[in-house]
Amino acid sequence: MTTTPGGVGRIRPRRLRATPAMRRLVAQTRLSPAELVLPVFVHEGLDEPRPIAAMPGVVQHTRDSLRRAVAQAAEAGLGGVMLFAVPRVRDAVGSQATAPDGILNLAIADAVAEAGDALVVQTDLCLDEFTDHGHCGVLAADGSVDNDGTLVRYADMALAQAEAGAHLIGLSGMMDGQVGYVRDALDEAGRTDVALLAYAAKYASAFYGPFREAVESQLVGDRRTYQMDPANRREAALEVQLDVQEGADVVMVKPALAYLDVLADVAASSPVPVAAYQVSGEYAMLEAAAANGWIERRRAIFESVLSIRRAGADHVLTYHALELAGWLAEENR
Ligand code: PBG
Repeated sequence: MTTTPGGVGRIRPRRLRATPAMRRLVAQTRLSPAELVLPVFVHEGLDEPRPIAAMPGVVQHTRDSLRRAVAQAAEAGLGGVMLFAVPRVRDAVGSQATAPDGILNLAIADAVAEAGDALVVQTDLCLDEFTDHGHCGVLAADGSVDNDGTLVRYADMALAQAEAGAHLIGLSGMMDGQVGYVRDALDEAGRTDVALLAYAAKYASAFYGPFREAVESQLVGDRRTYQMDPANRREAALEVQLDVQEGADVVMVKPALAYLDVLADVAASSPVPVAAYQVSGEYAMLEAAAANGWIERRRAIFESVLSIRRAGADHVLTYHALELAGWLAEENR
């Protein structure tokens, strides 16, 4: 290779970094609102939205304020919203998850009525918000989480969510066989139209900490007997393969930032779209560091979501979705 006297080669990568216009031209990953999904919380019986201390800027919504948030999300061009609900009453089997007038099912109908043509109304299908023990499933006599007994509850929950109008049901409980069982139940009820998002590679993560406050989780202990071990990479391929075979329309990796290797693997091999969830603890870390002046807030938020897209996510669930959409609109003006 010919080199200049200083030893620099003919190939100078810095040429393509010289101006904002050049950098914009050659950017290999872009963000747009359509691939951002906003997770939202609604709390039964609230008069006013209630702040979540560990997630500054995020609230538990009333039914009315949830409708406004969904309208805003549609206005901003987001791809969707993901609904979580906190009931007033909990019991061992999570009865409120399947009650037609349970808060989650009411909120789904509200969201669909508000903006159901403009964005995808996604729902969390899991029992942890609804059980008095806080586990994602029902318990067996010995106190362990009963996989197959839970599937029966999930099928009922899916039917209730479909009835309420959900477009894309997010199976986040990590029970074996949950996607196939719920798909069969929906199909038998004639609801072949409702799509399934499988939280395929969901890890037992400390980064869900602030979410526990957001949904007032009753959990004592952890979810290590059903969520994946953070040590495992290859196992994610098995989970994705099973979920796709069982009929998942979209698969997800969660959390995002600490699992970009897993995300890249899944993105390289999945035949269906891949979502990633930038979870509550990721949000809290960004906000806490920014509040202390330790990182530049806007740049750090952008960079983290861009990295998740770069690793291969087709769409990203992030509590910053609305704000990001605002910034993207500003930049494209
Ligand atoms: C289960 C569920 C959880 C999250 C999304 N769905 C909690 C858990 O698995 O413990 C966490 C999301 C977040 O931390 O932002 N219903």
